[in-house]
Amino acid sequence: MNPYDYIDAHRQNFLEELKALLRIPSISTLSEHAGDVRRAAEWLQAHFEQIGMTRVQLYEKEGCHPIVYAEWLGAGDAPTILVYGHYDVQPADDPDNMWRTDPFEPVERDGNLYARGATDDKGQAFTQIKAVQSLLAAGALPVNIKFVIEGEEESGSKFVHGFVEDNAEMLKADAVVVSDSSILALDQPSIVYGLRGMVSLEIEVWGPAHDLHSGMYGGIVHNPAQALAGILAALHDGTGRVAVPGFYDRVAELDAAERAELAKTPFTLERLENETGITNPWGEPGYTLQERLGIRPTLEINGLVSGWTGEGGKTVLPAKALVKISCRLVLDQDPHEIEDLIRAYVENIAPDTVTVEVRGIHHANPVVINRDSPYMQAAIRAYEFGYGVSPVFMREGGSIPVVETFQRVLGIPVVLLGFGLPDDNLHAPNEKFALECFHRGMRTAIKFYEEAGKL
Ligand code: BES
Ligand code: ZN
Repeated sequence: MNPYDYIDAHRQNFLEELKALLRIPSISTLSEHAGDVRRAAEWLQAHFEQIGMTRVQLYEKEGCHPIVYAEWLGAGDAPTILVYGHYDVQPADDPDNMWRTDPFEPVERDGNLYARGATDDKGQAFTQIKAVQSLLAAGALPVNIKFVIEGEEESGSKFVHGFVEDNAEMLKADAVVVSDSSILALDQPSIVYGLRGMVSLEIEVWGPAHDLHSGMYGGIVHNPAQALAGILAALHDGTGRVAVPGFYDRVAELDAAERAELAKTPFTLERLENETGITNPWGEPGYTLQERLGIRPTLEINGLVSGWTGEGGKTVLPAKALVKISCRLVLDQDPHEIEDLIRAYVENIAPDTVTVEVRGIHHANPVVINRDSPYMQAAIRAYEFGYGVSPVFMREGGSIPVVETFQRVLGIPVVLLGFGLPDDNLHAPNEKFALECFHRGMRTAIKFYEEAGKL
């Protein structure tokens, strides 16, 4: 049986297996789920053994989540492809009751599979695994395969950078393939060639030793929430530009040719409204929406807590206030340098009536991928086969921290072979993966390996 018939014959099986993986709440950011993260790693380990990968191993490090490694080197002198994915997921907290069904009990509805991790990234990583399984079962896998599936992409990928550096020999390959992004639409596949980097931080502001009665102390003690609001308001100017001195110093401006290339895949107001309900966009002047997402850096407030937010009123002067912030970074910004700039600025503008601390959380380098590698050509042919349309190139606003590490440390071409759709609700309620994306993704991945085998 050829691999394409194999996926058709096993459609239902594959779906049930993916559901089993999605039922494990492997949330890497929450320590109470560490056991579930481990369970997902072991599930994958057993699965890789079952589909015929010849060496399967968990790599572990104190305080980190396991990396699942699996290889099959039966293709001799043919190229070797390193396939990366992540089995950890974002939290599925649901304060506003937005999930229509349990995030960890996958359900099929209207041609979609709904669950946390359905697209990001269990579903897409699984698409790769099933493509390889189908080629193996057909006795037709034309390349050597090394899988690296990590368990802390959503919590900053701390372990994987050192893992790649320490195991560069074991990971030696001709190209890396990553399925953890989306295409523009089912009738318009696209290949992401730029990802933004990131630095995330938290800022804590302390005032009094404990919460105070706002009538007894309000007016004579600086309120930490108010002091923090002042700091936050000073992080942008009135137009949407980041006001941290030096923030833009290393940002590479794009030439007209590349801006014209980006303009071919505009982010329309219609798409913005469909996906977000927003009709009035915001952001840095002088750049299109697509440019603001792909080639410009940002600073966002991710979360903010202080004082009383429960039912009714409580006249309290809170003892402290906390904010979580993240910046999306572009070439040639350095996440550690940006952290230092923000810390220096915040300490400089903080009033001396409160105490302020800035702590770094995640760091990821931005990356731009060479579009001319033969593996990129193989990817183009694979999408043409899977979708019947040539893919366009685009830059993406999200981050996949290890991609830059692969490119720099292993020195080999990377291909982002994404199968998701823009409305998959990743990191949000009602995350989904379209069954059609799963199916076309497997066909595209199989074709990619067939094309790569000819190189
Ligand atoms: N799959 C996403 C990255 C992504 C999002 C790629 C949208 C393309 C389109 C990935 O799992 C992710 O969310 N990464 C985090 C990394 C962070 C926690 C360091 C991100 O971008 O926020
Ligand atoms: Zn994600």
